[in-house]
Amino acid sequence: MSDSQPVILTCAQPTGGLTIGNYLGAIKNWADMLESNNCFFGIVDQHAITVDYTPSELRQNTLSCVAQYIACGLDPEKSNIFVQSHVTGHTELAWVLSCITPLGELQRMTQFKDKTKHLNKEDESHSDDDSQSKVFINSGLLMYPVLMAADILLYNAHSVPVGADQKQHLELCRNLAQRFNHKYSDTFNVPEPYIAKQGQRIMSLQDPSRKMSKSDVNQNATLFLLDDPKIIRKKIMSAVTDSSSKIEVSEDKPGVTNLLNIYSSFNNESPEAIAEKYIGKGYGDLKSDLADLVVSKLSPVQERYQELMNDKKYLESVLKQGAENAQKLAFKTLRKVYKKAGFLNRF
Ligand code: TYM
Repeated sequence: MSDSQPVILTCAQPTGGLTIGNYLGAIKNWADMLESNNCFFGIVDQHAITVDYTPSELRQNTLSCVAQYIACGLDPEKSNIFVQSHVTGHTELAWVLSCITPLGELQRMTQFKDKTKHLNKEDESHSDDDSQSKVFINSGLLMYPVLMAADILLYNAHSVPVGADQKQHLELCRNLAQRFNHKYSDTFNVPEPYIAKQGQRIMSLQDPSRKMSKSDVNQNATLFLLDDPKIIRKKIMSAVTDSSSKIEVSEDKPGVTNLLNIYSSFNNESPEAIAEKYIGKGYGDLKSDLADLVVSKLSPVQERYQELMNDKKYLESVLKQGAENAQKLAFKTLRKVYKKAGFLNRF
């Protein structure tokens, strides 16, 4: 990596173990970008406190996420792996950007609406006993996309590889970059989203109309990178499929299509070509083969993860170096932004 290469920035939240959605939709593609880009891979702990959480678990999950990143192929010698709260500038830039963000734009964001709908439902279930009601919509949840825009613009990223669920957030980020450039003068690159064709939206194993998510209450819906092989098999074998038993890619068959997409993302054959191999066979055959494939792909990741977790000193050294490199770029951007915003130099 060198300063003259394009900057790639992307991040994941340490809100729990990483899923195969995170891996296939995002991390797997990041690993292919190391050679010709200056890559910044963040673990966004400040985003993770917008939902209910336990501080000690957040600390553990953050370190575990570093080890999972590296185990998935993100080489710290060829990239900068950092924790968001270690770098001064993310929240500072978010504040400046929030002052050019219309409130209505944030209230209309799909993820905000989904999350608040969910919280409102929880709140209703407590409504007969106010003393138990801990549920409220914090303003961090509303501000989340502005902080995400700051994560990206702080490094003046050219490209942001993400899954399809982040598209709307990226659009807001691009709008904010343009708005800032227009209001003050050219400062930010307007970053391009990079959404891979394959794996961009891995769906729940139990409800293929919904995205596979770390926080799904039904744990059978989500395959985690660190799931035990037995659990992987069990979850795949019990995945929801569709009424007719023909194996094909079709909008009417979201369950089997999702399994074929997962298969395809792991072995790089097209879902249609995989479906052809199962003519005359049943869902059980496909599921069993898919379970073997997923286990064989995740086993080396899990082994490497265990080695890394036994070497905390190494993980800390990766984060120290990552934060130092990220901070250099972050201060450079922040100085520029503060000057343009009219803040007096510090004496
Ligand atoms: P997060 O932590 O939910 O997910 C990390 C990455 O994984 C992708 N992803 C998926 N891709 C395909 N199928 C799925 N089921 C699936 N689930 C997750 C996400 O699209 C993402 O690329 N807001 C972000 C974190 C963030 C960020 C940033 C990302 C904060 N600041 C700056 C990029 C740049 C998020 O919650 O990702």
